[in-house]
Amino acid sequence: MLIRKATSHDWPLMWSFMVGIVRAGETFSWDRGTTESQARQMWFPEPPGHTFVAVDVDGTVVGTANSVRNHRGGAAHISSASFMVDPAYSGRGVGRALGEHVLEQARKDGFRAMQFNAVVETNTRAVSLWRSLGFEVMTTLPEGFHHPVHGYVGLHIMYRQL
Ligand SMILES: CC(C)(COP(=O)(O)OP(=O)(O)OC[C@H]1O[C@@H](n2cnc3c(N)ncnc32)[C@H](O)[C@@H]1OP(=O)(O)O)[C@@H](O)C(=O)NCCC(=O)NCCS
Repeated sequence: MLIRKATSHDWPLMWSFMVGIVRAGETFSWDRGTTESQARQMWFPEPPGHTFVAVDVDGTVVGTANSVRNHRGGAAHISSASFMVDPAYSGRGVGRALGEHVLEQARKDGFRAMQFNAVVETNTRAVSLWRSLGFEVMTTLPEGFHHPVHGYVGLHIMYRQL
């Protein structure tokens, strides 16, 4: 598996699995009805943001991540990132590889920390992955997320210094 910068040519393959994650509304604080063009605009942030894809040996895009400057001014050294892995390829280390890559890129870009603003507490796969990559739950917003199946659940803010 290769992780590289995403190009506009990758978008149709990225959106082919991103759309299901967005429409499910279980893991992202995005409107479930977010359109393809809105998603594309959000997923390709301005510099110093980056967009990456994880690509299988046969060229299939199996996951994607982006990273952004999370704050400005005195907190501009804190980055953030988002991840979506094709569910058909989950549990094979794609998310971990993307996470490690994004952390490395943020260090290279001179960021000093990374903050995940909205990790849904029922998203146990993500929470344990981020913990294993050195993130801690700094606080949990009580009933911060309205889950389509579980109702109001906690929303973690996760953080690690780089
Ligand atoms: C969260 C997500 C990015 C993880 O990607 P992935 O490729 O499935 O993750 P990996 O295969 O790298 O698994 C990494 C870790 O997840 C954890 N994990 C895997 N399966 C799990 C399960 N069924 N339950 C709990 N934790 C699990 C393990 O800690 C695993 O670590 P390991 O490498 O020691 O086995 C992916 O599931 C996804 O895109 N989900 C939908 C969108 C989303 O939730 N994005 C993140 C929002 S914060």
